Amino acid sequence: MATSSIQTLGILGAGRIGRAIRDLATAAGLDVAMVGSKGDVAPVLTADAVVLAVPLGQYRNLPRLEGALVIDAMNYWWELDGHLAQFEDPTTSSSEVVARELTGARVVKALNHLSGYALEELARSPGDEERIAVAVAGDNDADIETVSALVDRIGFDPVVAGDLSAGVKFEPLTEAFGADADSAELIAILARFWDSQRGRVVGRARN
Ligand SMILES: NC(=O)c1ccc[n+]([C@@H]2O[C@H](COP(=O)([O-])OP(=O)(O)OC[C@H]3O[C@@H](n4cnc5c(N)ncnc54)[C@H](OP(=O)(O)O)[C@@H]3O)[C@@H](O)[C@H]2O)c1
Repeated sequence: MATSSIQTLGILGAGRIGRAIRDLATAAGLDVAMVGSKGDVAPVLTADAVVLAVPLGQYRNLPRLEGALVIDAMNYWWELDGHLAQFEDPTTSSSEVVARELTGARVVKALNHLSGYALEELARSPGDEERIAVAVAGDNDADIETVSALVDRIGFDPVVAGDLSAGVKFEPLTEAFGADADSAELIAILARFWDSQRGRVVGRARN
């Protein structure tokens, strides 16, 4: 795995997931800037990559991220976000909706499907037999590689799921979501997505 080219990480959202990712990245030697709903976003926006760790219902209230490498760690959770029809449409992954809103941003989906507990407690060094995996999806191979290297650096095996539309394979309601799986298991889980009930719903909608 190539060394991550991400040396500075910005995080939008200072809640459970933002803090967990901040701690992992800081422990891995990155410079991290994090901001909640109040505060100075400038240091976040100049970082090499920006993690979105806010409630998904806030996706239209984000700062301009044109040109930025954006890591979408958000999930649609209707109990929190309210019913948002655009995130209930099985023809698009939630990250595709986010990417359309963030004009010019290079969106990669990652770090969304592990629980807060897993992010806080289950990071391991490369080769550790208890190391678990994180799915990564995006439309640009170089950006996928960059984010995969970050995932590796903070303690997880990256597994490339495909383009941004393939993000649907590790959203809520899927087997991958919340699974503390190693890379071989996660590859198998993603591969059998289309045979799952959720996969059939998505497949029918997309055909
Ligand atoms: N919790 C998990 O286990 C988990 C796991 C994976 C992914 N996720 C996803 O990660 C996202 C965040 O979840 P969380 O559990 O970390 O939520 P959380 O603990 O409620 O934290 C949300 C954070 O977002 C901030 N925020 C809200 N609107 C904002 C805006 N417009 N700009 C900047 N910051 C804003 C909040 O700031 P204030 O406090 O100032 O309002 C707060 O710091 C969600 O989409 C969730 O689905 C969660």
